[in-house]
Amino acid sequence: MGYLQGDKPITITNLLAMHSEREKITMLTAYDSTMSALLNRCGVETILIGDSLGNVIQGHSSTTPVTVEQMVYHTECVARANTHAFLIADLPFASYGDPVQALDSAAELMRAGADMVKLEGGDWQVEIIQYLVERSVPVCAHLGLLPQSVHLLGGYKVQGKSKDAASHMLEQALACEAAGAQMLVLEAIPSSLGEKITEELHIPTIGIGAGPDCSGQVLVLQDMLGISPGKPPKFVKNFMDGHSSVEAAIKAYVREVKSGKFPGLEHGFAG
Ligand code: KIV
Repeated sequence: MGYLQGDKPITITNLLAMHSEREKITMLTAYDSTMSALLNRCGVETILIGDSLGNVIQGHSSTTPVTVEQMVYHTECVARANTHAFLIADLPFASYGDPVQALDSAAELMRAGADMVKLEGGDWQVEIIQYLVERSVPVCAHLGLLPQSVHLLGGYKVQGKSKDAASHMLEQALACEAAGAQMLVLEAIPSSLGEKITEELHIPTIGIGAGPDCSGQVLVLQDMLGISPGKPPKFVKNFMDGHSSVEAAIKAYVREVKSGKFPGLEHGFAG
């Protein structure tokens, strides 16, 4: 059964229960009210107001130009039409350099309607995660490919491929959980590592190119509708194929994530 039923908003307690009952969690990005309303109607449990809006809305080649003010604007747009879904908003690049700055930025996103904030990084963010959680800001961490570090990484590359890199990432995930993170996004890592991290943690993992064994899945909305320019990453499936409306495509995504049909083997990475 889906958790997005009736009028009750989805809470972190529901999401933790879904993780322990092994019901897959669905997540998609949205940046505006129309899509927020549609995702709610289609039964998507969590909406990510991702800083991917830098790419898909603003036309930049990375997420680094996105500001807190812009994240606030889009979070407000999504929140206005949200009826049930759990809303996660990204802390953008350079908005959480120290605990006090992180709390200021997170407070703006929470006031705009976010239920949780997401930040990129592992053990180097432990102090910030702890500081936010102790001040009642729920935190989702993000490991693997970190889009805000694209200039440091030299491009969008699969992470955690070697044995050492994989065990280091597992340590990072455990450190984030111990610091109080209540959810973890895993991006572009081998499927076997997605499975291992999910097994070892008590909090839900949400995969994007992290294999079928994460607690849930997320895609950028424009990617899964096949309308993003350029060649899509390997982990993207175009759900408009075989569907005649955006609503039907999103409902198919929800069905396929719930049943485990998506992601398939072809969307994953080997270790
Ligand atoms: O900004 C975003 O959309 C994200 C997803 C890629 C997980 O962080």
